[in-house]
Amino acid sequence: MSSLEVNRRLTMSERIAVYPGSYDPLTNGHVDIIQRGLKLFDKIIVAALKNPTKTYLFSLEERMDMLRTTFKKTPNIEVDYFEGLLVDYLKKIRVNTVVRGLRAISDFEIEFQMALMNRSIKLEIETIFLVPSICYSFVSSRLVKEIYQLGGGVEKMVPDIVDKKLKEKFGRDKL
Ligand code: PNS
Repeated sequence: MSSLEVNRRLTMSERIAVYPGSYDPLTNGHVDIIQRGLKLFDKIIVAALKNPTKTYLFSLEERMDMLRTTFKKTPNIEVDYFEGLLVDYLKKIRVNTVVRGLRAISDFEIEFQMALMNRSIKLEIETIFLVPSICYSFVSSRLVKEIYQLGGGVEKMVPDIVDKKLKEKFGRDKL
């Protein structure tokens, strides 16, 4: 059970959204979406997926540490994790709004499908799509990992803590 499920005290007037994702690892594109989301919501819960059947580069603890470090000075961001269906997590924490980023048309199809599927499971769920700055429109966690693993530098694409953790994970200095 996640910490939020146990401890959460809801203020009914608060506008809260969940920004779910794998965050393997967090990128500046995610950070950009969160900053945009904070213009619309009082609080954003950044929820990392724990999927035991999926192989991640970073463990759940590492992914959450990077999220916490990046957002430690932002009080209206909470970091949490969830396991299983997103709609079940949303129900447990009593939030009905999901934020997702749309970088390109190619994201649209899968995001549209997920939004409709989530709504078909629970009618109250609304998904808000936010568009990142054009400078992050090509950034993805998958490409960040690939570039780093093949010897490239990703410091402009990820928060400092993520760059540091990539360096530790692969045991090499930044380029
Ligand atoms: O960062 P990602 O990998 O694009 O995030 C995808 C995520 C975690 C939002 C999505 O896979 C998800 O919600 N998974 C939880 C399981 C679930 O609810 N599946 C049905 C989605 S329609």
